[in-house]
Amino acid sequence: MLRGLFVTLEGPDGAGKSSQAELLAARLRDQGHEVVLTREPGGTQLGELVRGVLLQTSAGAHDGLSDALLFNAARRRLTEEVIRPAVARGAIVVCDRYADSTLAYQGYGAGVSLDVLRTLAGIATGGLTPHRTVLIDLPVTAGLTRRHGGATADLTRFELAAEHDVEFHERVRYGYLELAAAEPERWRVVDGGPNRESVADAIWKTVEDLVGA
Ligand code: TYD
Repeated sequence: MLRGLFVTLEGPDGAGKSSQAELLAARLRDQGHEVVLTREPGGTQLGELVRGVLLQTSAGAHDGLSDALLFNAARRRLTEEVIRPAVARGAIVVCDRYADSTLAYQGYGAGVSLDVLRTLAGIATGGLTPHRTVLIDLPVTAGLTRRHGGATADLTRFELAAEHDVEFHERVRYGYLELAAAEPERWRVVDGGPNRESVADAIWKTVEDLVGA
């Protein structure tokens, strides 16, 4: 029996998900909720190790399906160790990326069958689906410019132009918008263009009804 709430933030690279996840968690805590803030890939010991393998630029040959299998291995541990127990005890889990990232990146982006990816995610998550998923949408060039404005050393394999060109990221963005349109009761789309505070307010409005604020 799930008593709490499971909220995920999704979006292309550079949309500001990580800082928005922190702002949302802080606001929910201010309201007196127990909040568990976590991220993918990562969030568990195995997940953080898999994160290193997946994101480092020198990990050797990869393909969309091998990536998807690794992301889902990490996802299973995160679901079992962190998300499911927290939601079961009534906490609010805010997760920076979840199964929809694999559909967007390895599915729409890298061309792996969405049916295969849905099957893998179903196995990894045991069917656990977020109550609300917020897509922070941003034009691809704006997101990549933000990311490439930082240190090159911080860029992940998915952000390096040599491995994933602008068209890849365009497909990812299109995929997110299609996923959101297909399941409007779960997804909300927020414009990631305005300043941090405005985006945070827009995200808050998408969860307010669920937390009874
Ligand atoms: P991260 O540094 O967490 O980036 P961001 O702040 O943009 O979330 O790196 C995660 C990268 O991994 C990001 O480029 C998206 C990619 N990714 C996938 O390709 N598939 C997945 O299932 C997940 C969870 C992430």
